[in-house]
Amino acid sequence: MKRRLYQGSDYRRAQTIEELEGIARRRLPHFAFQYIFGGAEDEVTLGWNRKVFESLRFVPNTLVDTSQRSLAVPLLGAQIPMPLVIAPTGFNGLSWPGGDVALARAAAAAGIPFSLSTFSTSRIEDVARAGGRLWLQLYILRNRDIVRDLLTRAAASGFETLVVTTDANVSSGREWDKRSYSAPGKLSLRCRLEALLHPHWVAQILRNGVPQIANVVDFIPPEQRSTARRQLFISSQVQRDIRWDDIREIRGAWKGKLLIKGVLALEDAQRALDLGADGVVLSNHGGRQLETCVSPLEVLPGFVREFGGKMTVIVDSGFRRGGDVVKAMALGAHAVMVGRATLYGVAAAGEPGARHALQILNGEIDRVLGMLGRRSFAEVDEKILFRG
Ligand SMILES: Cc1cc2nc3c(=O)[nH]c(=O)nc-3n(C[C@H](O)[C@H](O)[C@H](O)COP(=O)(O)O)c2cc1C
Repeated sequence: MKRRLYQGSDYRRAQTIEELEGIARRRLPHFAFQYIFGGAEDEVTLGWNRKVFESLRFVPNTLVDTSQRSLAVPLLGAQIPMPLVIAPTGFNGLSWPGGDVALARAAAAAGIPFSLSTFSTSRIEDVARAGGRLWLQLYILRNRDIVRDLLTRAAASGFETLVVTTDANVSSGREWDKRSYSAPGKLSLRCRLEALLHPHWVAQILRNGVPQIANVVDFIPPEQRSTARRQLFISSQVQRDIRWDDIREIRGAWKGKLLIKGVLALEDAQRALDLGADGVVLSNHGGRQLETCVSPLEVLPGFVREFGGKMTVIVDSGFRRGGDVVKAMALGAHAVMVGRATLYGVAAAGEPGARHALQILNGEIDRVLGMLGRRSFAEVDEKILFRG
């Protein structure tokens, strides 16, 4: 029998991330939803990121008193109440006005770190007011004045960790994105007409203004600030020939913790370590970059064996259920990043929706831990997993 999912628009009635996804799908115009949901090319990696969890099944211990449970784990020098970090996602203002601030506030309320994208639509200083543990994600840009400006402002605003994303050196084959725009930054007529079927979303955008790449916009020459030309400026800024030397340079310029995101090969983690990184984020960018890429979960055990004691190993791509998070932790991850899971929450209902997404995940992680006969992550290891 087909599962029946909630079909309404009240985020409080969503029991699962998938139901929040449904609300987001109904609330957003197709192009804006597709931007969150979609993957590269035939979306094989996107699908595999979910499928891979099915090949790991749980082996619980029974008759253990798990009535008192804690999900807390240490991460980069401090405890967090559950092993989650909100991943950096660009253009969050398309999902909800001030989407970055909404996500940062939800993360702060849950006590977990929030990562602000280079291509965020809220200013670093506005996000800082949300409080909590703040991380900045960096795409290395050709104009180093912009990079210096971002790092200086983030440090001054109390951001503790810099996440350098390395898997977007080539712009990816997201064909739906190309279909949505007739030219860079110019929505196709069809998409514009379809947006009119979502008058609440359109009204929100009109009231709050078209989202801008808030932390870079001041560097765009005034004659290039139209939506279309802005887009061209930004993609021309992303440095396509980034190398390890650039990481060395960034390491020298950033005094806080440094993570390298988009690592999937063991030898790259060694190079990150040699250059003074504090950790890696194993990621295939949520299936949005290299098609038929390995899932980070598949390579995680090798990284944990080799580097688990030497650096922080975070994993992302495809996490939608608390049980998924427990599986990654059992394989030795220090924490999990979620991208779409909280983005669906914010797209469904702003900050309360993002909070709800985190509550759903928290409840699921807690429940799974209890059913496995475990009271904390200190008691979780590969013994709880059966591979078949
Ligand atoms: C809409 C969207 C925008 C993203 N933008 C960025 C970005 O600006 N910088 C970055 O490092 N990763 C970006 N990512 C990748 C996420 O940080 C993360 O790796 C991915 O979402 C994890 O997969 P999940 O969405 O299945 O959780 C983006 C992902 C999505 C879905």
